[in-house]
Amino acid sequence: MKKITIAIDGFSSTGKSTLAKQLAQYLRYIYVDSGAMYRAVALFVLQNELINGYELKTFNLIGKLHLIKVTFKYNEALEISEVYLNDINVNEAVRSMEVSNVVSIISTVPEVRQQMVSIQQQMGSEKGIVMDGRDIGTVVFPNAELKLFMTASVDTRAKRRYDELVLKDSKLSIHSVLDNIKSRDFLDSTRKESPLFKADDAIEIDNSNLSKKEQFDLVVKLVNTKLNA
Ligand code: DC
Repeated sequence: MKKITIAIDGFSSTGKSTLAKQLAQYLRYIYVDSGAMYRAVALFVLQNELINGYELKTFNLIGKLHLIKVTFKYNEALEISEVYLNDINVNEAVRSMEVSNVVSIISTVPEVRQQMVSIQQQMGSEKGIVMDGRDIGTVVFPNAELKLFMTASVDTRAKRRYDELVLKDSKLSIHSVLDNIKSRDFLDSTRKESPLFKADDAIEIDNSNLSKKEQFDLVVKLVNTKLNA
């Protein structure tokens, strides 16, 4: 059976991971959340005090990159693939606001990106993969058969992320989530190295007013077109 590569890019909290997971499960493909990899590096940076406020000790980080091993392991019970930093499960820890606040700074470092991109390309070398992120259709898999670019209004995105995070942190304010999303949008799309932009051959999906099911049905049609091409 023909296997394809599916690249899903877009701004923060546009539902990329939800869609990517659904698709991977449906197609029995590997799912990779590339953002979790940058988040794992950000966690390493915080744990090793390589950042002071928002001032990253870039030189020190580059010197320690060889000590960072980012992997994924499938959790059979939860039926999800979880991210590991140096063999420790950090799947929950990488979702914290502390990590969210610094991850976009860390992901501007070219050496960090090169290390992550090379792992990502290895994981996708046999196709049959759905990967979501910011540069998947532009840099990681420029030849992906299907490229999607997800968008949604900033308020919709902040509300979605807030609803998710407030369950774990009841003191969280919607304003802090909105500010974080806006500043990550800015950093992710204006950075010099692999900025977020829509590849020419990517299909844009604005899901502000789409239910998960409507979105999934729409994308399955696109997948089938590519599989039958
Ligand atoms: O998808 P996410 O919000 O978990 O990603 C976290 C950060 O990682 C995001 O702000 C930008 C960065 N990132 C990136 O630069 N390139 C990717 N392919 C994926 C994420």
